[in-house]
Amino acid sequence: MTVIKKCLFPAAGYGTRFLPATKAMPKEMLPIVTKPLIQYGVEEAMEAGITDMAIVTGRGKRALEDHFDISYELEHQIAGSDKESLLSGTREVMEQCNFSYTRQVEMKGLGHAILVGGRLIGPEPFAVILADDYCVTESGDGVLTQMVKLYAQYQCSIVAIEEVPKDETYKYGVIEGTEEAEGIFRISNMVEKPAPEDAPSNLAIIGRYILTPDIFQIIEETPPGKNGEMQITDALLAQAKQGRVIGYKFRGRRFDCGSVAGFIDATNYTYQKEQEQAKE
Ligand code: UTP
Repeated sequence: MTVIKKCLFPAAGYGTRFLPATKAMPKEMLPIVTKPLIQYGVEEAMEAGITDMAIVTGRGKRALEDHFDISYELEHQIAGSDKESLLSGTREVMEQCNFSYTRQVEMKGLGHAILVGGRLIGPEPFAVILADDYCVTESGDGVLTQMVKLYAQYQCSIVAIEEVPKDETYKYGVIEGTEEAEGIFRISNMVEKPAPEDAPSNLAIIGRYILTPDIFQIIEETPPGKNGEMQITDALLAQAKQGRVIGYKFRGRRFDCGSVAGFIDATNYTYQKEQEQAKE
């Protein structure tokens, strides 16, 4: 059985909705309470049994690499103090995972970022996490773990989907498909950022994917779509037309931390959870 060993993190976007915070700092380093978004993503991948983390960065994103590296001066400074424990989670991640990086030189869209990241992946199925979609589950498996288990059964590309209000379809890739089992859709069509009247459903793709490696060739052959960008939705459509894409209504909750409102909601939610845990 093929297992998913690698997770790609496209993190080269400009994050313009968070300016000026993202002028010199990657959006993926924004903290939810004290932990940066990228680390939540990496921990979700680890929970799914993945140890190879491949990160697509861009100009001004060096903080991502520094975060998963040793900071001798800082660690020396806090050694033996009660602050040392604050870094133990990050150290654990660094010890258990391999990190590799590549740069997207021109920001030509998510599809292009995935194509660029292909250098770090090779000819095997892989996971994709958009760290600005922060996913939590109250109990049971994390979202990527759920999807990896589903991959073992279906052996085709899988996209995480959720219901969104009809007037918000213009923010997402939206699917059309038939429900084969509870929450599992065989996708026949998908449209990138449709106006509500053009949306085939209210089931939107969020930032968790499992992709089969033929996607790289398909992205290369797919002409630029909406906004002149290379859209992953357009490439996935080619697989979907062959019945090779599953939409999975995941268990859990997603916060759109690429938007200010979603980021604040995630912060409030997480802070409250941490306070509750501290009391237990
Ligand atoms: P977004 O649509 O959220 O774009 O990208 P953005 O540029 O990061 O943010 P705004 O809209 O300007 O505020 C979705 C994901 O795809 C990555 C982003 O880093 C984010 O994780 N991405 C997007 C790339 O890596 N490269 C690109 O060229 C575009």
